[in-house]
Amino acid sequence: MGWRRVLFFIMALALVCVASACKNVTETVEPVLPTKLSEKEMPDDDKIKIGFSMDTLEEERWLRDRDLFKAAVEALGAEVEIKAANGDDSEQILQAEKLISEGVDLLVVVPHNAEATAAIVNKAHLAGIRVISYDRLVKNSDIDLYVSFDNEKVGELQAEAITKLVPKGKYVYIGGADTDNNAHLLKKGVFNVLQPLIDKGDITVVYDQWTKNWLPENAFANMEAALAANNNQIDAVIAANDATAGKVIEALEKQGLAGKIPVAGQDAELMAAQRIVQGTQTMTVYKPIKTLAQEVAELAVRMAKGKYIDTDRKVNNGKTEVPSVLLAPIAVDKENMDETVIRDGFHTREDVYR
Ligand code: GAL
Repeated sequence: MGWRRVLFFIMALALVCVASACKNVTETVEPVLPTKLSEKEMPDDDKIKIGFSMDTLEEERWLRDRDLFKAAVEALGAEVEIKAANGDDSEQILQAEKLISEGVDLLVVVPHNAEATAAIVNKAHLAGIRVISYDRLVKNSDIDLYVSFDNEKVGELQAEAITKLVPKGKYVYIGGADTDNNAHLLKKGVFNVLQPLIDKGDITVVYDQWTKNWLPENAFANMEAALAANNNQIDAVIAANDATAGKVIEALEKQGLAGKIPVAGQDAELMAAQRIVQGTQTMTVYKPIKTLAQEVAELAVRMAKGKYIDTDRKVNNGKTEVPSVLLAPIAVDKENMDETVIRDGFHTREDVYR
């Protein structure tokens, strides 16, 4: 084989390697599947039907997830049935059982309780239906795929922004719901940044509580308790999302401290964006929901057609190394509000600067 042909052959091989590395998702049709799944009749001309089992529609973002996911699935020529359990575990399991008995081709789940939802994965697999974990990981189950943002990174971005403003002092951490695996990842990210400063004695975390069920009123009560326990001597607050940050700021407001103490949030909710440009909240973390919904819709339809999806990245959920896609979160403050959430059309400039 002449040297030119050898060279051409090497270049072609290199190109294939590069192409597959770009998208950390690979697809094969020869899966090693549990018997039931491999026997599942792939619908010929029937429309693919995706089941979407959601924890809640309480927070602003979940309404967006619901609508964007529905639009993305339908744009791919498939249909989607959506159910939201309003934070009730047994309701979520019942709703998922109904979707399974209706014969959806694939199930997408936003778990309320990371552990309890494993039952849904087992039931789906028994019916030959694969399951994707959407934004939140289902623990201790053979979940087929996990797609989310890098939630540990979210916590790091929050703590980096606040420690830049308050390198020394008393901190309050208002965590998320401890039933939600994301809340643990967020907290891990925050303490990745805080711990070295704590070890140096520069920072003291004087209050650290989960927020039961992510309910803002629970965050309000926790923040009031933190202020009372520390005679209002608090220098910074990191709250796990904007809904809880809003209640933290309400509690600070009551003590005449709103805008004087830096507060971090997450989700780039409209009211948070308004608080940031008005100066009562310091920053939030923007997660382009459109990208997440689009990614999951594409992967869900491909899997429903029998494709087996693998990824470079894996996340251990306590039972298995789950193939995972983790998208990048973006820190937002008043300096980059325009070129992030407004440029993406996540919010309009009029609404934010109202
Ligand atoms: C988390 C999610 C956040 C947040 C929260 C409350 O799992 O990643 O965006 O809003 O749930 O629902």
